[in-house]
Amino acid sequence: MVNPMPSRQYLVIFEPSGLRTVASAGTSLLDAARRAGLNLASVCNGQGICGECCVVILSGQVSELTQDELENLTEAELLQHYRLACRTRILSSVTVHVPEKSLMRQQEKIMPCEGDQWIANSSK
Ligand code: FES
Repeated sequence: MVNPMPSRQYLVIFEPSGLRTVASAGTSLLDAARRAGLNLASVCNGQGICGECCVVILSGQVSELTQDELENLTEAELLQHYRLACRTRILSSVTVHVPEKSLMRQQEKIMPCEGDQWIANSSK
């Protein structure tokens, strides 16, 4: 039995946290971030719709800009090398800056609802 040719493995470093992982060529930066333990915002779960998984490529080669990125990133962000992590594929070892705004915030504490009032309102 012949093993399929292994894909190349690359080092992916996320700054400023310094979290890192090794990922196969073609892996999305979002998947690599998750593997590294980074809580990157991704409301649309990698569908290229929410625009929340913005990162900046500091070094290394990645895939070409996609239509989703052109539609979700501003001209200023594109000029600053912002990319959508879910749409960007790793083509070499890369270093990526993760802006604060792209990190998932802790969920706010959910206050107990007033169930009786809700039931009263929903039965109208
Ligand atoms: S996860 Fe929503 S655009 Fe990337």
